[in-house]
Amino acid sequence: MSNLHEPATRPENPRFSSGPCAKRPGWSPTALDDAPLGRSHRAKPGKAKLAEAIDLTRAVLGVPDDYRIGIVPASDTGAVEMAMWSLLGPRGVDLLAWESFGAGWVTDAVKQLKLDDARVLEADYGKLPDLATVDFSRDVIFTWNGTTSGVRVPNADWIPADREGLTICDATSAAFAQSMDFSKLDVVTFSWQKVLGGEAAHGMLILSPRAVERLESHTPAWPLPKVFRLTKGGKLIEGIFKGETINTPSMLCVEDYLDALKWARGIGGLDALIARADANAGAVADWVARTSWVGFLAEEPATRSNTSVCLKIVDERVASLDPAAQAAFAKAMANALDQAGVAYDIGAYRDAPSGFRIWCGATVETSDIEALLPWLDWAFAKQAATLEEAA
Ligand SMILES: Cc1ncc(COP(=O)(O)O)c(C=O)c1O
Repeated sequence: MSNLHEPATRPENPRFSSGPCAKRPGWSPTALDDAPLGRSHRAKPGKAKLAEAIDLTRAVLGVPDDYRIGIVPASDTGAVEMAMWSLLGPRGVDLLAWESFGAGWVTDAVKQLKLDDARVLEADYGKLPDLATVDFSRDVIFTWNGTTSGVRVPNADWIPADREGLTICDATSAAFAQSMDFSKLDVVTFSWQKVLGGEAAHGMLILSPRAVERLESHTPAWPLPKVFRLTKGGKLIEGIFKGETINTPSMLCVEDYLDALKWARGIGGLDALIARADANAGAVADWVARTSWVGFLAEEPATRSNTSVCLKIVDERVASLDPAAQAAFAKAMANALDQAGVAYDIGAYRDAPSGFRIWCGATVETSDIEALLPWLDWAFAKQAATLEEAA
């Protein structure tokens, strides 16, 4: 544990928020100079940009040629809910939830769609539900990387290739940082503002041929608002997957997403993005291993996220306080780091256990993570001193 002196080095970029996340290294607004602003997104230049965003997404993520990729409204939430509202109904559903976003999809299925055959497989913050108990004759909804607990599925080996139901995967804090086997996934969603540090409001919806088959053979029992409609007259609206968006996108955000994708391709593509996130999370893990006051919220090392790294305070003096006092302790530390200008937005998510969430995605520099860690020790020592004073 360090003393109360401020560390000599500061992160160059103190933006460690888990969304919106840091822009890519070297980003400036001039990256957006080529945006076709003030033009229709349905005119040639706009359509070409939207199609390029789809093509580059496929190239960087390695999405199979027979999967559709669409840009849809309302960010990741829009993409997940569009899939749920459009696809669910014909089969029972297994819903996996181990943190607040997964829990949100449970609420959608159970309280909003009121599905009669929904089975919820839950686990507490820090754990995964038992993946061996998932029934793939049913549809399955899960979050690849639980952003608010820092727990991810280790791989897709638990998903059979010959499943009968569809797998619907919220991959918003995993895409571009973790390896995902698309052959095991029928719906994949994410937003632009996570691992690539893009701008918010647009969602990506990736559909397998089996998901398209379901869309074309099943009519939901409930009304579908226009922004959710993927079919017309029982046929997929193919234009959506060529850049003819359902409603108006921001061409400034599209330009920014293109910039991020080109940066990703330029540094070596998906492998390089994964390596950057792994190096960042590895730097945090090395520090946790040598630091007695802090621990991972994720219990099992194989399930620890390399993007939303969630930490808890394990020091006895703090862990023995009541939950509200523990939360106040962590919050005071996060505030001190914010005020010192070395770490913005690293407090645990509002519904999660108290502690910190440090974004380690590909746009974050490892040198900045390394510079941040002594500051966490500093903030802990500073706050622990107030406990001693009070005692
Ligand atoms: C796993 C997960 N799902 C869904 C969301 C909601 O995403 P959006 O705000 O892009 O709709 C988030 C946001 O952090 C998330 O981390």
